[in-house]
Amino acid sequence: ASSFNCVMKPVEGFKPKPSLKITVVGAGQVGTAVSAFLLARNLTKNLVIHDVKYDLATAEALDFSHASAFLGNPIVRGCGDGNRTKNSDIIIITAGARPSGKTRSRLDVMHKTVDILKSVVPKLVKLSPKAVFIVICNPADVMTFAVQRIGKLEKHRCFTTGCHLDTARFRYLIAKRLKVPTTDVNGYVIGEHGSSAVPVWSSVTVGGIRLRDVLKDLGTNKDPEKWSDLFDGILNAGVHVSKAKGYTNWAVGLTTSDVVACMLQNTGRVCCLGTDVKGVHCVKDSVVLSVPCRVTASGISHILELPLTKDEHKKLLKSADTLLEAQCSLKL
Ligand code: LAC
Repeated sequence: ASSFNCVMKPVEGFKPKPSLKITVVGAGQVGTAVSAFLLARNLTKNLVIHDVKYDLATAEALDFSHASAFLGNPIVRGCGDGNRTKNSDIIIITAGARPSGKTRSRLDVMHKTVDILKSVVPKLVKLSPKAVFIVICNPADVMTFAVQRIGKLEKHRCFTTGCHLDTARFRYLIAKRLKVPTTDVNGYVIGEHGSSAVPVWSSVTVGGIRLRDVLKDLGTNKDPEKWSDLFDGILNAGVHVSKAKGYTNWAVGLTTSDVVACMLQNTGRVCCLGTDVKGVHCVKDSVVLSVPCRVTASGISHILELPLTKDEHKKLLKSADTLLEAQCSLKL
């Protein structure tokens, strides 16, 4: 309180409307990258950084707050016990064990990360019963399935950025090879955010031109221009960067802020997100994998079933089997 309050008089009957509140769970490299882009893109003025290491979460929040004048005066707070996350509109879960060792497989860290989720998700759901949950921690698809089950969350409001990142990498590498802007390339990577991901070459367009109309055997082993080699660059992208710097954070942070921006615009933009796709593309079981989704402020309103070639569909069902097996191994 200050004597300044004598000249700033409250108006009778005024009730503040809370601004959109976002919680980022995990104050590691990914969580702080997500927080940075949410703030820098003015996507929230009320951010909570939640980490069991309360001092770390608070220090990150203070570091962002020092730049308040450049961020449009957001409220950024740290949290250790989860209490400050109450009434969040969006909760982004980045906390998880980090892949290590040679393979750096995302599936390796699964069980450790599930234990972390079991310890934090129930309280997050209880304190924010209407929140949309975005799961980033790897293995992203299986962890999203775990959060849906642990939090008893409907599939439209609990999803992962999943192959939205792989799709971005796909478009970038195609654009780079053809020397066109990335924004002129359209096309998707679907399935697992991992080694069984599926490049949908059959619907890639560049400047509105369907690439397969120009390159008949695009993406197949008969293709003289060997475009399928480009996809290896996507499958290894995360490992390649992690081997050099120990982790990835900028691309996934920007991917996440792009999905949040789509939600806030609430115009139904399509992003390739991972959620339960039972009944889509003839998937028989409840398995979480990425497909093009129509994104709104309340979460995923529709799933778009891309026309797939027989080979692409076969690969997608194989990806579903891989993920279903991993999901069944969880002790939830
Ligand atoms: C990557 C991590 C986010 O692909 O899985 O960079």
